[in-house]
Amino acid sequence: MKTPVKVGLIGLGTVGQGVIRLLKDNADAISARLGRPLVVTMAAARDLNRARDCDLDGIALTSDAQAVASSPDVDIVAELIGGTEPALSLVSAALARGTPVVTANKALLALDGNTVFERARAGNAAVGFEAAVAGGIPVIKVVREGLAGNRIDQVAGIINGTCNYILTQMRDQGQSFTDALAEAQRLGYAEADPTFDIEGIDAAHKLTILASIAFGMPLSFDAVSVQGITAVSAQDIRVAEALGYRIKHLGIAKRSGGKVELRVHPTLVPEQHLLAKVDGVLNSVLIHGNGSGPIGLYGAGAGGDATASAVVADLVDIARGLGGDAGTRVPDLGFAPASLTALPVLPLAETESAFYLRLRVADEPGVLKGITSIFAELDISIEAIQQREPPRASDDATVALITSEASEQRIHEAVQRIEALPFVREQLSRIRVEHFN
Ligand code: HSE
Repeated sequence: MKTPVKVGLIGLGTVGQGVIRLLKDNADAISARLGRPLVVTMAAARDLNRARDCDLDGIALTSDAQAVASSPDVDIVAELIGGTEPALSLVSAALARGTPVVTANKALLALDGNTVFERARAGNAAVGFEAAVAGGIPVIKVVREGLAGNRIDQVAGIINGTCNYILTQMRDQGQSFTDALAEAQRLGYAEADPTFDIEGIDAAHKLTILASIAFGMPLSFDAVSVQGITAVSAQDIRVAEALGYRIKHLGIAKRSGGKVELRVHPTLVPEQHLLAKVDGVLNSVLIHGNGSGPIGLYGAGAGGDATASAVVADLVDIARGLGGDAGTRVPDLGFAPASLTALPVLPLAETESAFYLRLRVADEPGVLKGITSIFAELDISIEAIQQREPPRASDDATVALITSEASEQRIHEAVQRIEALPFVREQLSRIRVEHFN
């Protein structure tokens, strides 16, 4: 039998345990593909006494992560702890020795990826990061390699499983936001700090990586406009549904006219659109290439086993190339490093989209006229409008509408003027709408 490829794991959490399970359960299939066995020989975890749902036999365990990162006895280091430090130091230590690294760490790549890839080049070692975006969906490979012949102008989709799970549970089960989040945590979908999920930061990390490999730009997390799902109410979900839409949390990276838009926010999607049908922890990424046309990927976006599938795919890829050099490898970000170009990012205020607005108003004559005339003055047309009569005559009415495409700036002005009208009872609820035409 050929010598096994030895993997050192840093982190024995949900994903680390999944990797050990998958490598053991599928050992034959993996070794048949690779031509030699792939085994975890060493693993580091903070708490070695915790019970784990995998077989740790044959693995040298340590609480010293540096010992794994710097070990001369491992061929590939898999960093599965998340966060920027100590992950950056550990990954850097491995790369400095020329040891390739596989990471599921989107925060590390979004924030410090330019440094990581520079260090990878200096150490002539590969960095695999399929698991950092959309769990088990091989989106990095598709964009970076499968679509290498295209000019990509859009990558958009549902890239946070926890948000999608929460929004689905709220709509289908009438579950509260808090209960749905607790369930997502219990199922191992949420980040260690779940505010990263619900505030949109995790999706922004992933969008940063996608934009970089799609458009050939350095990783630019600070350029992403980020909004989470904490302000999405059960009422918005119901009203959107009555208008024929679903509310999804999307990451959108668009390129046009030499500029890019990078944004993460709740979005109304027409109910017949593909993305509207992606429920639970599932993710979906739509990519538009000028040669390929639209491509849609769909699958489990979080969870130990799905993410482990992506980690193992990277381990196999890297193991195949061990002994190769940078000249024969796919460049980390899919573009020759010298070709990476910072692209101007359109400020959110200048981006255009349709909007959903919902407001509570006094039930009296002239209300709709007052609202619609503001839109007319600002040259924004209304695509759909719905007024709900109050259950009792003394209650307020609800008005919901969908605008035509307009800049954020113009919508903002309309909202401010509407909120100042005497019959408007509270701040408007405002969510972007994407039709993906
Ligand atoms: N917390 C992430 C999610 C895990 O919910 O999508 C996968 O990156």
